[in-house]
Amino acid sequence: MKAPDIVMQSYGRCCASASFFDDFYQQFLQSSPEVRAKFTNTDMPAQKLLLRQGILNLVLFSRGLPPTKLQALAKSHSRENLNIQPHLYTYWVDALVRTVELHDRQATPEVSYAWRDVLAKGIEVIQAGY
Ligand code: HEM
Repeated sequence: MKAPDIVMQSYGRCCASASFFDDFYQQFLQSSPEVRAKFTNTDMPAQKLLLRQGILNLVLFSRGLPPTKLQALAKSHSRENLNIQPHLYTYWVDALVRTVELHDRQATPEVSYAWRDVLAKGIEVIQAGY
């Protein structure tokens, strides 16, 4: 199976796990004070719902959809708006892969590798718009 298909199936299993998004933000926020500083005024329940779609957009891009949605994310995360510096995406990816490994019952090193591969391609688009 190719990486985008491995990830699509893995994401389905993660979304079925009730605390997946709670655990992701726990991992992500504890990964760095720089990350925590960005979310001081955020409505976290709303943010978790937005992230569900955000991850899906990364997965769909890897399956061949045009980058339109990722370009919009690039704009909102750019230096003029949320000002998310490119190095912060390393924390994001590490937190997400760690959370997948905790929640996907079929997680293997191959699944983690597929996630990193899929995320890297979409994140390149977002970082390019910084
Ligand atoms: C907001 C997705 C990476 C910080 C958002 C939103 C989405 C999203 C969908 C909602 C508003 C919008 O559309 O812009 C993603 C995805 C990421 C990512 C898919 C990875 C590729 C990051 C990183 C940071 C970050 C690395 C760094 C700390 C924020 C902040 C907000 C936000 C501060 C606004 C929260 C608020 O409303 O207070 N993100 N994001 N994001 N994101 Fe990201």
